This record gives sequence, structure tokens and C-alpha cells, in this order.
Amino acid sequence: MNILVIGGGGREHALCYALARSARRPTLFCAPGNPGTAALAENVSIAATDINGLLAFAREHAIDLTIVGPEAPLVAGLVDRFEAAGLAVVGPTAAAAQLEGSKQFAKAFMEQHGIPTAASRTFEAADFDEAVAYVEGGTFPVVLKADGLAAGKGVHICDNADSARASLREMLLDDAYGEAGATVVVEEFMPGEEASVFALTDGTDYVLLAPAQDHKRIGEGDTGPNTGGMGAYAPAPVVTPGVLAAVEAQIVRPTLDGMASEGTPYRGILYVGLMIDAAGNPRVVEYNCRFGDPEAQVVLPLLASDAVDLFEAIAHRRLGEVEVAVADEAAACVVLASAGYPASSTKGVPIHGLDAVPDDVVVFHAGTAEQGGDTVTAGGRVLAVTGFGPDLQAALDRAYAGVDAISFDGMQLRRDIGQKGLKRVAG
Ligand code: AMP
Ligand code: GLY
Repeated sequence: MNILVIGGGGREHALCYALARSARRPTLFCAPGNPGTAALAENVSIAATDINGLLAFAREHAIDLTIVGPEAPLVAGLVDRFEAAGLAVVGPTAAAAQLEGSKQFAKAFMEQHGIPTAASRTFEAADFDEAVAYVEGGTFPVVLKADGLAAGKGVHICDNADSARASLREMLLDDAYGEAGATVVVEEFMPGEEASVFALTDGTDYVLLAPAQDHKRIGEGDTGPNTGGMGAYAPAPVVTPGVLAAVEAQIVRPTLDGMASEGTPYRGILYVGLMIDAAGNPRVVEYNCRFGDPEAQVVLPLLASDAVDLFEAIAHRRLGEVEVAVADEAAACVVLASAGYPASSTKGVPIHGLDAVPDDVVVFHAGTAEQGGDTVTAGGRVLAVTGFGPDLQAALDRAYAGVDAISFDGMQLRRDIGQKGLKRVAG
């Protein structure tokens, strides 16, 4: 069986890792991949957004199943093109990927289907004065979101009217996010603790992986600017069985039913970003149409069933026929980032100690390159070091044991991954 994984970050390395463990022994290709995926798959030098190139490759190499990592090719219609060509693929169509591709779409959808989320209103450049008046008449903090894909940067949380006015100006009038920010969603601030739930669905049936928690800020104690994610762990204790039941009944099921009833059934990975308030009520912060990165690096290794069977069943719309189990264990992942991240990043810095990492720790490559036989940095987030154990503390101990073997100039990491989870376990 030939499987093509699209993308080249830590998430795609984790996808290859899960697929490579399958009893079906698939032949893996990864486009474009990275030095980590190269150990498990044949890397193919085609960009994740080059839909024509990917389609031609899939045909020429008799690819039986394609799994899409990042959002951009999904929003651009890769799945529509592959399915029209008769190829099996895991991911939502362009229409369904609008749940991530347009925040305005997602908010209108949630309102229409009674799915709990922050109250919001949408404004365009022509409504600038109205937007300012609306924000000034509301409460603070207020959340402003560029409508379209902005690589995780299009969200401003403003504490007062001055900063909100400045942000509205940047987004609506000064085109800070280009077309993506031409429409802005103004949203109520939701207090609480964040977590992510991943539903794998064939459009009708779904299965859930372990609920996870990301660490978006660069600094310990959730300080400093937002990043793509500095670490993750699963399962996240904030998602108690009661919270999870509410997430399924109030969010996951109505989302899938709503998308189906609108004629755009959602297939693939539905990432539900949640805010859980003190009373345990979940609300949607955002939908993403793909796995999180670095959440994939913890939730995929905890999959106890065969990943090939699972993804194949999603693509062929027969998820109801497979048994899916999640290991009763914990996983924790610590991201090692390069100097300057998230504002900038350094490239070509030699990475030391990869051979000295304990055998039970998995090092996923995110932004690395091979240079004259050495592994060097090649991006902001460089490595995602994942440990496992019977509980969160044990998993964190293993992850940090792996981290302590590795070094490179300017290496940044957070030492407090999982602390919120540990506090909850301690009660
Ligand atoms: P998003 O790209 O929509 O996930 O937003 C980025 C981050 O901003 C989220 O992970 C939250 O930490 C925060 N955020 C977004 N919307 C809200 C909200 N309505 N209330 C509180 N925090 C939010
Ligand atoms: N780690 C957050 C994301 O993948 O969107």
C-alpha cells in the first residue's frame, strides 16, 4: 500500500510515525517532508501547496491513500481535486475547510446550529467607524480576529479602546493581514482554560483521540508573544469525562450534522479549539481542519489501533466498521525552538546530542535540514521531543530527559510544559 503524507513539519513526522507502526507495512512518501520523515518515508520535493504537482505524483506512483497535514492545501481545494481524480484522501473539501479558512463562516455556522462560542459581530473596511463604535460600547478585553488564514497571527486581544481602535485600523484599513484581514470578527473574551479535541470523521461517524493541551506563548507561565505551539500533552485533565460528554453532545455531533445538512459534509480531522470555563462548560474558540502541531506529536503516538486502517476507513467513508482505541497512557511533547522565534528564526545551526536521546523518547523533526552529514536548524520550531508514561508526570520526565540530551546555539524551550495539567491532577 502506497501512502502520501503532505506537509513537512513535526505534525507530518508524527503522521509518518503512526503510519509506519501499522501492521499493514505501507510504503510511505512525504511531500516535502524533512530529515525526520526521511527515516520513515521517501521524501518527495513537492511543496504542500502545489496541488497540480501532488496530483501528478499521486497518479504516477499509484498512491492508494493521501493524508493532508497543513490547512493551506485543504482550503485551496486539494481534496476536491484528488477526489475528482478518483483518489482516496483524508481531509475536508474546500467548502468544509471553511470552518478554519473563514472565521466569519465558522461564527455564522455556530450561531445557525446553536453551538456554544463567544458572541461576535463581523465588520469590513467600509464599516470601520461602526466597528470602532461597537468595540467602544462593549467590554474589555475584546478579541479581534482577521477572517482568513493568517498563519496563527491574526488574533489580537485588546485590553482597552485605544489598542482595539489601533488593531481595527491595522487590520481593516492598513491591510496588515492582506485579504485575510479585510473582514474582522469582533468577539467577546472568554475566560477559562484552553484544550483541543480531535475528531476523526468520515462525515457521518467519528472517533475522538486523547484531548490535548497546547502552550501557545513563547514564555513560561504563558507570557510573551504567541507561537505555533511550544509543547503539548495528552490527555488533558481539564477535559474531564463530563466536559468531554458536553463537547461531544453540544459541539462535535452538531458540527458534523450541521455540515452534512448544509450539503458540505465534513470529512477528515476536525480540530476543536475549546475554552472551558470554571463550571466546566466548553465553548469553541476556533475550528481547524487538520491536526494541531505540536498536538499531533502527542495524540497520534497514543493511538492504540492501526493508523492505516483508521485513515483508510475515513477516506472510504466506512469509519463505522473499524475499532479505534486510544492507549491508557500519557504523552508530553516539548518543542525546541531556534533563537529569535517567534519574531524571526536562525537557520543552519548544528544540533548536538540527537544520538544521545534515550530510546523511549521520540524526537519529531519540525524545522531541520541535513548539511554535510550534520543535522542543523532550518526554522523557528526545530524539534518536538515526546515522552510517554503511565501518567503525565512520567511522560514529562521522559520528554525532559530527551530534551536534556539535545543542544544547539540559541535553543529556546519552556520548562513548564504540562504544569497546568499536573496542578489539576494534584487537585
Ligand atoms: P485562534 O487563532 O482563534 O485560536 O486564537 C488564538 C488564541 O487567542 C487562542 O488560542 C486563545 O488563546 C485566544 N483567543 C481567541 N479567541 C478568544 C476568545 N474569544 N476569548 C479568549 N481568548 C481567545
Ligand atoms: N498548535 C496549534 C495549531 O496547530 O493550530
